Amino acid sequence: MAEVNYAQEFKRSIKDPENFWMDQASNISWFQKPQRALTKDQNGFYRWFKGGKLNTCYLALDVHIENGRGEDIALIYDSPVTQSIEKYTYLELRDQVSRLAGGMKRLGVEKGDTVIIYMPMIPQAVISMLACARLGAVHSVVFGGFAPHELAIRIDDAKPKLIITATSGIEVDRIIPYKPMVDEAIAKSTHKPDHVIVYNRRMGAVRPDQENDIDYATLMKIADPVRCIEVDATDPLYILYTSGTTGKPKGIIRDNGGHAVAMHYSMKHVYGVNPREVFWAASDVGWVVGHSYIVYAPLVYGCTTVLFEGKPVRTPDASTFWRVISDHEVDVMFTAPTAIRAIKKEDPEGEFIKQFDMSRLRYLFLAGERCDVSTLNWAGEKLNVPVIDHWWQTETGWPIVANMMGFNEHFDVKPGSATQAVCGYDVQILREDGSEAERGEEGYVTVKLPLPPGTLPNLWGDTERFIKGYLNKFDGYYFSGDGGYIDEDGYVFITGRVDDIINVAGHRLSTAEMEEVVAKHPDVAECCVVGIEDDLKGQIPLAIAVLKAGACIESFQLQSEVVGDVRKEIGPVASLKKVLIAERLPKTRSGKILRKVIRAIADGKEFTVPSTIDDPEILNEIEKLFQDQMVGSFEKKVKQSN
Ligand code: COA
Ligand code: AMP
Repeated sequence: MAEVNYAQEFKRSIKDPENFWMDQASNISWFQKPQRALTKDQNGFYRWFKGGKLNTCYLALDVHIENGRGEDIALIYDSPVTQSIEKYTYLELRDQVSRLAGGMKRLGVEKGDTVIIYMPMIPQAVISMLACARLGAVHSVVFGGFAPHELAIRIDDAKPKLIITATSGIEVDRIIPYKPMVDEAIAKSTHKPDHVIVYNRRMGAVRPDQENDIDYATLMKIADPVRCIEVDATDPLYILYTSGTTGKPKGIIRDNGGHAVAMHYSMKHVYGVNPREVFWAASDVGWVVGHSYIVYAPLVYGCTTVLFEGKPVRTPDASTFWRVISDHEVDVMFTAPTAIRAIKKEDPEGEFIKQFDMSRLRYLFLAGERCDVSTLNWAGEKLNVPVIDHWWQTETGWPIVANMMGFNEHFDVKPGSATQAVCGYDVQILREDGSEAERGEEGYVTVKLPLPPGTLPNLWGDTERFIKGYLNKFDGYYFSGDGGYIDEDGYVFITGRVDDIINVAGHRLSTAEMEEVVAKHPDVAECCVVGIEDDLKGQIPLAIAVLKAGACIESFQLQSEVVGDVRKEIGPVASLKKVLIAERLPKTRSGKILRKVIRAIADGKEFTVPSTIDDPEILNEIEKLFQDQMVGSFEKKVKQSN
């Protein structure tokens, strides 16, 4: 536990970031200590710990071995879908990582090169990430639920020297062959990687061989282990693509120095964990939660991390999470509210929980999407531990708003709020004109610059988009893309995105990207995709299409084709299931589609008809369409009356 209290520490982090973060930096092992915490680069962007030299893989593995902890468990792989559990000590993990890094080096990978990792939730995914870090290469992990087209976009942007993949993933009871998807993506992309390393899971998935493929196991046999390469604190550790408001994903850059310091700080102060304890983030390495809290933070901090290949339900049932907590004596857990909703739906009384000894569990953290009050309360009641809703983004890499468990005194929970700003984040709510909102008044959620260490310094290859997307809206502030308010007690409430990004089962997706796919259908004249409320996934996308004159496609046919197109172009994770045909779309007189109003109608929420609307009658048509097709709140009403 920290000796100081939150209020003191928070104040110091904002008033004196230089010294505050230099103090935190002394908690990690540098090859060369930085002389300063905060500087600006040639673009005028803030950078952390410039001049410091380190290696993130060294911090995650080697340093613990040097401190005599080589035999401690670093990673537990628990896979209900293959019914296997494997444990890796720090020594074992370091040996595998250094060998793979040696193999990659043989294949020509050097410091600064990029490597794409497209893998299921297996230890080799973590080993690949750490091997890149060891070499100073920049990894970009692409979530397995994305289709080849999405992978191709990332290949062309990141221009990887290598791709590392596996033969297959497993979705509940289905084998997903990964290798053919990688081949398809490479065929589509302009940039071609030199090699594809393929980890063979031996599950019978089709594995087409290409000339430049390298077998993972063979490479490991012939490779020599390598030591950690020294990198600058400001050198990139990874790129993680996330949905933006256009069809093209944004490459969030994470640096080495600021990231390592922030990971260490957050484990102690936000999550209230101690080294050697077991930390489990039930997410996927393809998302930021996986990067930060499956791989880097727990290992840098010297915890045991759990890598879980399964789902909260159906692998095999809603008891899985509790079994993992009990089997591996998990101290602190992190997941998305949607996972708890899925469990609650299957086991509303929490009967499964009673079958396991979960006495070690201290806290459950939830993030990735808005946490509804009933989910928060259910989890708190059934697990009998504090359930902490906390808010953050791929861009920041670690929590912005939370109830920081590392301090002696914690805040009372206010359901619906992620609690207070985390040390280092000067969170402010601004109005459209840039003035500060009153307490309780909803506005744009921003963070006054500088952002703390670990947050994005720029976008990969697109400085202009970085400035336009985050810095230009309010001079001197980072704009999060979320709306919200701060109440009289300083509690931050996030009310939702103010742009076209949606959160489907904790997965961040762009409706603009889906619209691009729907619009390509030959019978569609125009369309829109909005995120509507869903009891399980939080939000799901809904497409509304207006047909071209003369098109005579049936509604179910259009739906089936468009759903197929979105699965093929973006991936199954998009979860687009419903496509409606409308006569017209509601628009402003200047032609802007009123997506917010459409969403409000579907969710049964109050809204103000904009004065700029072209034809208010269309809103009635849309309402009737939703009613007829039982969309959103209309479906809910029918279910309730049943
Ligand atoms: N590889 C291939 N396909 C994948 C995939 C992967 N890695 N991940 C998901 N998919 C597929 C699923 O099989 C599903 O396909 P289907 O439409 O053919 O059934 C589709 O993408 C949607 O997946 P998902 O959103 O996971 O829905 P689900 O119905 O399978 O499961 C939940 C619902 C709530 C159980 C699940 O979404 C979940 O566990 N969510 C927690 C999310 C999370 O951890 N988010 C990270 C942020 S903390
Ligand atoms: P991602 O970048 O995938 O982590 O998604 C970030 C977005 O998810 C944020 O901008 C929010 O819109 C949403 N989000 C994440 N955590 C929360 C939370 N605790 N409460 C409300 N929204 C959240």
